[in-house]
Amino acid sequence: MVERKVGFIKMASEKKTIGDIPEIGVGMIGHAFMGKAHSNAWKKMPYIFWPPAAIPKLISICGIPEESVAEAAKRYGFLEYTTEWKKIINDERIKIVDNVTPNFLHAKLSIEAAKAGKNIICEKPMALNAKEAKEMWDAVKKYGVKNICDYNYRMVPAIVLAKNLIMDGKLGKLFHFRARYLQEWIVDPDFPMIWKLRKADCGSGALGDLGSHIIDLGRFLCGEVKSVMAVTTTFIKERYNEATKKKEKVDVDDAVASVVEFRNGAIGTIEASRFCPGRKNYNYVEINGEKGSIWWDLENMNNLWVFWKEEEPIDTRGFHCVNVTESYHPYYENWWPHGHIIGWEDTFVHTAYHMVNAVINDVELEPMVATFEDGYKAAVICDAILKSSKSGRKEKVVY
Ligand SMILES: NC(=O)c1ccc[n+]([C@@H]2O[C@H](COP(=O)([O-])OP(=O)(O)OC[C@H]3O[C@@H](n4cnc5c(N)ncnc54)[C@H](O)[C@@H]3O)[C@@H](O)[C@H]2O)c1
Repeated sequence: MVERKVGFIKMASEKKTIGDIPEIGVGMIGHAFMGKAHSNAWKKMPYIFWPPAAIPKLISICGIPEESVAEAAKRYGFLEYTTEWKKIINDERIKIVDNVTPNFLHAKLSIEAAKAGKNIICEKPMALNAKEAKEMWDAVKKYGVKNICDYNYRMVPAIVLAKNLIMDGKLGKLFHFRARYLQEWIVDPDFPMIWKLRKADCGSGALGDLGSHIIDLGRFLCGEVKSVMAVTTTFIKERYNEATKKKEKVDVDDAVASVVEFRNGAIGTIEASRFCPGRKNYNYVEINGEKGSIWWDLENMNNLWVFWKEEEPIDTRGFHCVNVTESYHPYYENWWPHGHIIGWEDTFVHTAYHMVNAVINDVELEPMVATFEDGYKAAVICDAILKSSKSGRKEKVVY
C-alpha cells in the first residue's frame, strides 16, 4: 500500500485506563438545525474514537425562545440551558464554544469567545464578509485559541482520500475543478422570508450558504484562487415575512455561477443554487488532471470515482468507484467493518474529534481541518464573486 503524505493522523492518546480520560466542557450557542447536528457529534465522538483525548461534557446550550432551548437541552443531553450567549462564553467550565448561530452572530460571538480564552468551532460561512472574517481570524491568533470554521465536507473520508491522491501526484498537473452545490428548498414563491434570505443576517444567499462550501473544497483540493468572474441572480424578489405580515425584499442571490482561475493554472466552475427542483443536497466535485480524474457527490458520500489514464487495460478503462470504507481509509479504522457506511452527520463527529485532540494535546489542528484562516480566505473569494457579479469583470482574489 502507498504511504500517504497527508491524511488522517491517528490520535496520539496515551490514556491507558478509562479513569485517566478527562472530560472537556462544551458550550453551544444555537440549538436548531446545526445545534442538533453538532450535539449528536459531541456525544458520538468518544463512542467512535475510543479512547478519546477527552470526553466532551455538554455543559450548557443557548438559544431562543426559552421553551424551545429548554427542550433542546433535555433532548441533546446538556446539563443546562440559557437564552444569554454571554453566559456560555463566560462559563469557566466551558473550554470549547460551538457557535451554530445565524451568520450575523458569528463574528461578534466568536471574537468575544476568543477574548475569554475559549477554543471555537464556528459554522460556515464564517462571517457576513471578508472584513468581519479577518477580524475573527486576527482575534483567534491574538488570544491563541484553537479555531475551526466548519467546512465539514473536508471531513468526509472520500474527500480526504481525494486530497491524498492529489498530494501524491496521482492526477499529475491539475487542469479543472468543477463543482456544483444545488438544493431545491426555496423554489416555491410562497416560501416565507427567513434570515437566510436577508443580507444583513446572512451576508449572501446561495453563495455563502452553499457556494462557500465548494469554494473551500476548491482551495482544499485544487489550491489557491487567483481570480473569479461571476453572475448572480435573485429569481424571487420579495417574500412574505410572517412576523411583520408584510412582503419583504430579498436582497441576496438566489443562485450564482462563477468561473475561477487557480494560481496553479487550473481553471474551474462553481455553481450554487437553492432553485433546482429534484436536487436535495447535491454537492458535486470533479477534478481533472493530466494523469486522471476524480469525482464525488455528497448524496453518495462514501464513494470516490476515479479514472487513471494509464493503469487499466485499454478495453476496460473507465471511471471506477472506490467505496471509501476500508480500515486503511481516512478515519475509517474507528468506524465499522468495510461497506458499513457513514453519513452526513458523521462529518461533525470528525470535527469534534479534531478539536478535542488539538485542545487536550495542545497541538496544531490536523492539515485537513478548515481553520479561521480558511474561513477568511473563503470569505475573500465570496466577496470577489459578488464584486464581479456587479462589475461584470474578472476580479482578483487577494487574501
Ligand atoms: N455545515 C453545514 O452543513 C451547515 C448546514 C446548515 C447550516 N449551517 C450553518 O449553521 C449556522 C446555523 O444554521 P441553522 O440552519 O442551524 O440555523 P437555525 O435558524 O436553524 O438556528 C439558529 C440558532 O441560533 C439561535 N439564535 C439566533 N439568534 C440568537 C441569539 N441572539 N442568541 C442566542 N441564540 C440565537 C436560534 O435560537 C437557533 O437555535 C449558519 O451559519 C449556517 O450557515 C451549516
